[in-house]
Amino acid sequence: MFNKLKVKLDRYGQSQLLQFWNELNESEKNILESQINEIDFDYIQDLIASHVLKMPETSVRGEIKPAPYFPLNPASPEDKELCIKAEAEGIRLLKEGKVAALTVAGGQGTRLGYDGPKGTYRITPVKEKTFFQYFAESIKKIGEKYGHDLKWYIMTSRMNNPQTVGFFRENKFFGLKESSLFFFTQGTMPAINYEGKILLSSKYSIALSPDGHGGTLLALKNSGALAKMKDDSVELISYFQVDNPLVSVANPAFLGLHSLRNAEMSARMLPKTGPFEKLGNFCMVNGRLEIIEYSDMPEELAESRKTDGSLKFLAGSPAIHIISRSFVESLTASGKLSLPWHRADKKVPFISPDGQVVSPEKNNAVKLESFIFDALPMASRTVIYEARREEEFAPTKNPTGIDSVESCRAMLIARDAERLERAGVKVPRKANGSPDCLIEISPSVIIDDADAAEYCLKNPIAPEKGKALYVS
Ligand code: UD1
Repeated sequence: MFNKLKVKLDRYGQSQLLQFWNELNESEKNILESQINEIDFDYIQDLIASHVLKMPETSVRGEIKPAPYFPLNPASPEDKELCIKAEAEGIRLLKEGKVAALTVAGGQGTRLGYDGPKGTYRITPVKEKTFFQYFAESIKKIGEKYGHDLKWYIMTSRMNNPQTVGFFRENKFFGLKESSLFFFTQGTMPAINYEGKILLSSKYSIALSPDGHGGTLLALKNSGALAKMKDDSVELISYFQVDNPLVSVANPAFLGLHSLRNAEMSARMLPKTGPFEKLGNFCMVNGRLEIIEYSDMPEELAESRKTDGSLKFLAGSPAIHIISRSFVESLTASGKLSLPWHRADKKVPFISPDGQVVSPEKNNAVKLESFIFDALPMASRTVIYEARREEEFAPTKNPTGIDSVESCRAMLIARDAERLERAGVKVPRKANGSPDCLIEISPSVIIDDADAAEYCLKNPIAPEKGKALYVS
């Protein structure tokens, strides 16, 4: 086995991976062998040349203009009517079981500083429910409301799959049928140091990390999820990120607009809070829709303004998509998918030639990731639909500050308070207008204003100043 591997790795200049071979036991040798065999070295060597040994060409080229979008409150009577039709169409699709929810939960959640799958983090403000439980309750409610179970696909990574699935099992799938859930695992990419060498994370394993959420598309095919969706007559995938509990997991109007416009991949947008908010930017690049990641957006474009002072590139991406199953099928039909690779320079712990674990203090390696939104330019038709930030987007990236656990909890409370007020409930408020109480509505009972109105008619609710209220 050694000789065969050695010949192969010598050819690519990567034989450092076998450096500790003689110290390994049989099972360790097997692990390392299978990891080496999984790597397509021809492909990786090309990527090392183009993305590691030099900086990749920046993704931004040609003429860049802001992308048009469908507004939340359209002005024209035709568009107003389209919105009404879209909502009805979305409800039809949900009733007929044509929709599946998909959560991407394979990320490493490094910024949050939480040691575990991000979905198992306790996020809600009163009951401290995890992200996963909160989504599960919405999904169950949608099934009850529309009379058809909403299937839920959860993408994990090889690193967090056992813990994620174990967590669902321990919690009896939060009341969902086990058959409604489908866990699948995304691919990995090796970390590569600045000399172009693949790193070992231990003497018998390669430093691997998830291949980015662009990996969702191929993972859907390779795991059999796509085939299962077809068997279940699922046509549309409602895609969202694990760290955004505010998202409506299957929004009828968005689903309907996508469907009525025969789109292949659609996206929600929201007005950015400022030029450098950490959101992807919706742009037309040489006439094609693209999301340019905040880190790749040229500063002068991000800052450019219209004559009225508003941002020219206002549309930011909350990473909420509808993707047609047929689109994923066509993209992945050959078994390969060529999305661009994005380089991230990271501090990657590794085993040094003398066998010591090194935890570097500065960036020492490149991780390569693909992004799901890079599939947008490949779609023949797309819809970008505005979202109200307060109702769709509370990303949880950091423990405190912007896009944090704190801000997410405050937004969950604010959304639920507004929802109760629209249903006629009096909510105590502070001088600055924020709710003067903690409120948490369980999505198992209320997921929209109609549910809230119905619930409040039957159950009088009176939030008290300074107290916590849980509505269930
Ligand atoms: C992401 C988007 C950004 C968007 C913002 C909204 C990217 C590169 N950028 O930024 O355009 O405006 O969210 O919040 O995604 N994930 C996987 N597998 C992976 C990597 C990530 O499943 O290999 C999942 C994570 O679990 C998470 C989501 O993808 O649910 C986003 O990942 P994250 O690293 O938080 O992206 P951001 O840089 O915050």
